[in-house]
Amino acid sequence: MARKYDFECEVFENKSLLDKDIQNLVDIANKQLDTAYAPYSKFLVGAAVLLSNGNIYKGCNQENASYPLCICAERVALFNMGANEKSFKIKALVITASNPSKPLEEVCMPCGACRQVIQEFENRQNGPIPIYLTSEQNEIVKIDGISKILPASFSMRHLL
Ligand code: THU
Repeated sequence: MARKYDFECEVFENKSLLDKDIQNLVDIANKQLDTAYAPYSKFLVGAAVLLSNGNIYKGCNQENASYPLCICAERVALFNMGANEKSFKIKALVITASNPSKPLEEVCMPCGACRQVIQEFENRQNGPIPIYLTSEQNEIVKIDGISKILPASFSMRHLL
């Protein structure tokens, strides 16, 4: 059988195999699907960030009639966190999705722009962010850090 994911990751068949705090974060991200604002794409995305101090920040996609202004769920969650915490250590980022018109065959991958933003938060905390990707139907895919899906990235080292 062909490998479903062509990047380095760990696949959990269901969330009960995860630590309790991550299970809770998955539930929180899934709940964010209820407040996603996606009248144009109708593709619902939820995200949640857990910090090592225990604080949790939530996000969901926010679309706009002027399409390029749409913001992805994970960016909303990360910027929400960044707006509220001066220093931080992200313990986990969960991204989940639901397409009401078609069951998702695999987990939702962060878009290129979001990968770049996640990279910046890794730089800010000087360490990798464990990322958990899932959907209502699918397994949970854990990625150890953004470099697994954003190799050879552009970052602050080019500028500073
Ligand atoms: N979207 C996210 O919120 N996160 C992703 O990782 C992929 C895409 C949103 C943006 C837009 O509102 C909708 O999904 C369809 O692209």
